[in-house]
Amino acid sequence: MPPFNPIVAALPATVPFVGPETQERARGRSFLARLGANESVFGPAPAVRAAVARAADEAWAYGDPEAFELRNALSALTGAAPERITVGSGIDGLLGVAARLFAGHGDAVVTSLGGYPTFSYHVDGLGARRVSVPYRDDREDWEGLAAAARAERARIVYIANPDNPMGTVWPAQAICDLRAALPEDCMLFLDEAYLDFAPEGTAPEFPADDPGVIRFRTFSKAYGLAGLRVGYALSAPEIARGFDKLRNHFGVGRVAQAGALAALGAQDWLAEVVAQVARGRSRLALIAEENGLAAIPSATNFAAIDCGGDGEFARAVLREVVARDVFIRMPGVAPLDRCIRVSVGTEADLDLFADVLPQALAAAKAGRGRNAP
Ligand SMILES: Cc1ncc(COP(=O)(O)O)c(C=O)c1O
Repeated sequence: MPPFNPIVAALPATVPFVGPETQERARGRSFLARLGANESVFGPAPAVRAAVARAADEAWAYGDPEAFELRNALSALTGAAPERITVGSGIDGLLGVAARLFAGHGDAVVTSLGGYPTFSYHVDGLGARRVSVPYRDDREDWEGLAAAARAERARIVYIANPDNPMGTVWPAQAICDLRAALPEDCMLFLDEAYLDFAPEGTAPEFPADDPGVIRFRTFSKAYGLAGLRVGYALSAPEIARGFDKLRNHFGVGRVAQAGALAALGAQDWLAEVVAQVARGRSRLALIAEENGLAAIPSATNFAAIDCGGDGEFARAVLREVVARDVFIRMPGVAPLDRCIRVSVGTEADLDLFADVLPQALAAAKAGRGRNAP
């Protein structure tokens, strides 16, 4: 076989995410509740389902490579001019293009240790030098990120606010302070995947023409369209033109664009989903409490539940929950890995989780007495 390029050849063998489908195939059994990927189990609005069905007739045609209508509708929603908006295949896709815009082989890029991993895959794939800053008190440490950016002369700092996997949030001022603390030639990538669920005062105001920030948003969470793969980036116009140089021009299909456009018109549904998610988060906190555990206060559509022991114990709890047909995940590094992470589900999903968690805890304690709390 001809050799991979040297950057790829040096990467460890890896699979970015082991999806629930992979796990179901391995188990030979379906999950009864899918609470591990922070999707919206409430799905898209009825009007969105209808728009997607209508668009299916036109699925033979490529989507508009400029996503003109969608960008105009996003402009109306966000107040950002259309030339500041780039539509892409989810935040994940956009992060890959954005990383290529600013970082190359050997450049320092700063992110959080144990934070949302997809950005890191892109950075590693470029052969950039990834610098990872540990969380502080279960939040991404914005001061630590800024200090690392200065010390390492980084090209990019990535932060998710609210974050995944802990669901914690900084108020807007902290993000403004982070932006102000970065060197002039360092970009801030602000991932706002969960912004719709966050309290008022989470979204910072940046000047429209600030060329130092890209914010990333998605239809995968509150809008309930993870399966369609649509997200967008807000940036200064010159950066949006940079995206145009590199992006996959037909990367967002016609059906996906139609679904996202209809979703923007269904703001009542969004409000209802956000309210249901808030109720679901409270229920998750209650379930944790009933089991003598604590959920980390969350500004997202999931909760990290502190299992009260070490990572080995939480991993055992996770295994036992999964063995009882509830798909959940957990953070990958200490000390965050003392938690399991559970997405908000339907009432029935959460009833099942409430049944399963005490059994899983008992089994984990029985099996791993030494590490149990
Ligand atoms: C912080 C964060 N960013 C981005 C994504 C993925 O977004 P998208 O589906 O738009 O690629 C996720 C999904 O879990 C996430 O947690």
